[in-house]
Amino acid sequence: MEEIKKDNSVKASTAAVSEDTTLKSSFLRHLKYTLAKDEYTATDRDRYKALSLAVRDRLVEKWIKTQQAYYNKDVKRVYYLSLEFLIGRSLGNVLVNLDIYEEARKELLAVGLELEQLRELEWDPGLGNGGLGRLAACFLDSLATLGIPSYGYGIRYEYGIFFQKIRNGHQVETPDNWLRYGNPWEIERPEYLFIVKFYGKVNKYTDKHGRFICSWIDTQDVVALGYDTAIPGYHNNTVNTMRLWGAKSTRDFDLGYFQHGDYERAVSDKVLTETISKVLYPNDNVFEGKELRLKQEYFFVSATLQDIMRRFKKNRQQPIEYRDFPNKTVIQLNDTHPSIAIAELMRIFIDIEGLDWDVAWEITTETFGYTNHTILPEALERWSVPLFERVLPRHLEIIYEINYRFLKGVEERFPGDGGKLSRMSIIEEGDEKKVRMANLSIVGSRSVNGVSALHSEIIKNELFKDFYDYWPKKFNNKTNGITQRRWLRLCNPALSELITQHIGDAWVVDLNELKKLIPFADNIDFQKKWRAIKQDNKRLLAHCLKEKKGVALNVDSIFDCHFKRMHEYKRQLLNAIHAVVLYNRIKAAAKSGNKSALKNIVPRTVIFGGKAAPGYFMAKLIIKLINSIAEVVNSDPEVSDLLKLFFMENYSVSLSEMILPAAELSEQISTAGTEASGTGNMKFALNGALTIGTLDGANIELKENIGADNIFIFGLTADKVNELKQRGYNPREYYERNAELKQAVDMIDNGFFSKNDANLFKPIIESLLNHGDQYLLMADFESYAKCQERVAELYKDQALWTKMSILNVANMGFFSSDRTIKEYADDIWLVKPVDV
Ligand code: IMP
Repeated sequence: MEEIKKDNSVKASTAAVSEDTTLKSSFLRHLKYTLAKDEYTATDRDRYKALSLAVRDRLVEKWIKTQQAYYNKDVKRVYYLSLEFLIGRSLGNVLVNLDIYEEARKELLAVGLELEQLRELEWDPGLGNGGLGRLAACFLDSLATLGIPSYGYGIRYEYGIFFQKIRNGHQVETPDNWLRYGNPWEIERPEYLFIVKFYGKVNKYTDKHGRFICSWIDTQDVVALGYDTAIPGYHNNTVNTMRLWGAKSTRDFDLGYFQHGDYERAVSDKVLTETISKVLYPNDNVFEGKELRLKQEYFFVSATLQDIMRRFKKNRQQPIEYRDFPNKTVIQLNDTHPSIAIAELMRIFIDIEGLDWDVAWEITTETFGYTNHTILPEALERWSVPLFERVLPRHLEIIYEINYRFLKGVEERFPGDGGKLSRMSIIEEGDEKKVRMANLSIVGSRSVNGVSALHSEIIKNELFKDFYDYWPKKFNNKTNGITQRRWLRLCNPALSELITQHIGDAWVVDLNELKKLIPFADNIDFQKKWRAIKQDNKRLLAHCLKEKKGVALNVDSIFDCHFKRMHEYKRQLLNAIHAVVLYNRIKAAAKSGNKSALKNIVPRTVIFGGKAAPGYFMAKLIIKLINSIAEVVNSDPEVSDLLKLFFMENYSVSLSEMILPAAELSEQISTAGTEASGTGNMKFALNGALTIGTLDGANIELKENIGADNIFIFGLTADKVNELKQRGYNPREYYERNAELKQAVDMIDNGFFSKNDANLFKPIIESLLNHGDQYLLMADFESYAKCQERVAELYKDQALWTKMSILNVANMGFFSSDRTIKEYADDIWLVKPVDV
């Protein structure tokens, strides 16, 4: 690339940009006038930036028009509140949605630059942990594509999810300083500054009109500064906004200390204040209970609600009719992380706007919707009451009042049922009282939804059964989805092109169109092209791995992919143990000298990727185990090309865009009843991988949509898991009964994969054999191994495999996030698209 920079056309065109309105001229203008670079000094990063700014310019007109239309039509707006937005790189996405990808590519080529290479220079913003954050990003794309007036609100973390490096097989975390080189996609909005209060106390008095007043005083204040990112719809005129808040210290704060002459204290306090938006908590599905996290939650909720109120009040006559608020505003809570918004909206209505409790409560409960994302007990947010009281004293009072009134209603309906009252209470009693944010969310929302059919049933029948009995109509299901714009159109251009050549491009906005591929599933010629694309994508991935890591992949082996957060319930360990079994089979066949047995083995490359929370010991040990097994297997000449294991470091949105097109087998093997939905399952299937999975989360709907013949299902169902646990589960029984399983587990236990430290993996074995094997790996192993044999057998029949792959893709229509968002819009939000 450095060579290309010296291309004379860059030089010539730079001089003549002012009259030119093409993307090229805009690019050159930004390079010169925004970044002050010429052909002697411009780096590739400058070129990426200049291009991004040129592309962003193309969004501005539509962006402003969209926002004006929302005001002019006084529309109902959807606010999606989320502590995480994993939006991925923007450049490619915006080019695709604006339909100028080809134009950009050609114009860059004309000045000797490759679009693909510039795209690689964009820092992938990691403002989320996994599924929940990526779902929020897919939703923003679908909301804009469907033309729904909407906003994503969250935090502009200075440090996103850590960078994962693998050193000596272990995960090592380094900070993700993603803003180091600036972010050309965001626009700072100093005009939207809001004060957010913390700590202090509540002053109660009766005013001169005889009204009882609660005033939150002596607070420590922080300023929230908005940063906007434009979210364009696909081939339409809608451009919505994602507004992320950064924390700044207040000027009062500074001045107070400056007056006392303590400059250093003033500066260090300023830094401390701004830590609120410093870093994303790297936990997925785990609640930690840290004070700073509570402050993050309130910080972004308070700023967001002030912004929402400002927008609602604008162009409205005094006195404001707040009963109209839910007709114009709907707030969707992405899990309980923003659920303090329920108490905050009550505080605003009562303490600031002077509404009566009953009116305020009616409006509030009409406004909110709550999406639950997990039933894992360790993930449910339960804030310590003393902590809560210190940080948000007025909110705790409001929550107590909400709870008191709510429980009075429960007591009336179910007199004398103390158990019910204590289970449903927002406050959990015990040595240390806790605020149950899920209970607050249910009580304060008009809708509660799970994210797959199974998950929503579990919510109704187990996790929130009391609430379901009380308010059956509140509960509903919205199965997650993914945006086909990023997860097929952008990340897999060759497959997209083939599909479009055969059925047209309507699938990009209506994924059900893919059904038109069904007649091609048996077509030999089509199958050949389909397979060739997968093979090319496999080669591309192999090439990247060779370049970056020096490892060689056998492109004729099954690319068996297991990419997701490292978590025991997701059972990467089950896959790893199975890999040891495969290894032992190869060794045994080699030893027996039985050439046909060896020949019969289908080569397999098992590729893992995923981050473990830095404090999650077991998950990190499993990463080390995978790498240790890989070391032994990959260096064994007898195994040769038949089996290879790789752990790819730093799984991210951009890495998954590379993996998905090359994947052939998608591992979705969580213990049934633990994964709320999963969306990785959908992304792999949409790119033609076949799924091996349990009947968990959205896998069940995957099976229903693509047909039982086109998916590999194994293992206990959620009901059977419950039954077995109730009966008394003894993992040792399964371990003793299955010789291959026992051999593999024993090898790990005996230090076969940890020669320098025989005890290294003991905790893993302990958890499986002596501590109850919470996620039932032993119980499911045999079924998994048998299923994997079916996979390998089927892979030998490439025509059938390809047919199944085509049918998978053809039946993915249901899993578009456009469908999900449409359901939210029709059933929960009651909003309609707006033409811009
Ligand atoms: P806001 O955050 O919703 O206020 O976004 C500001 C955007 O809305 C800008 O693009 C303005 O042009 C537009 N806007 C703000 N106020 C009005 C109005 O009163 N009428 C029409 N458009 C407005």
